[in-house]
Amino acid sequence: MSATKRIDLCGTGEVDEGTALKVEAGGLTLAVYRVEGQFYVTDDHCTHGPGSLSDGFLEGHVIECDFHSGCFDIRTGEVVAPPCMIPIKTYSVAVEGDRVLIEV
Ligand code: FES
Repeated sequence: MSATKRIDLCGTGEVDEGTALKVEAGGLTLAVYRVEGQFYVTDDHCTHGPGSLSDGFLEGHVIECDFHSGCFDIRTGEVVAPPCMIPIKTYSVAVEGDRVLIEV
């Protein structure tokens, strides 16, 4: 069993409400989202192609890839609109003080 690792991503103030921020940390390229004051983290790279989800359109808890308009639920990673077929990886988020971290 490997121990949980925590990766510091960004400050809470760096992600505006209703937007996504691209963050590279710990060898990962991630999208950090803020919706109704909660933070969510997924892989940034769309599972369908070259799209970067942090460049997409966030509506509620759904991120629309700006490449072919596929959509994912940022809470679960599940596909909610084609052409994407494969869920996006999501991460367990922790907020400590004014920092956003993930546990991997
Ligand atoms: Fe994201 Fe095609 S690359 S929907």
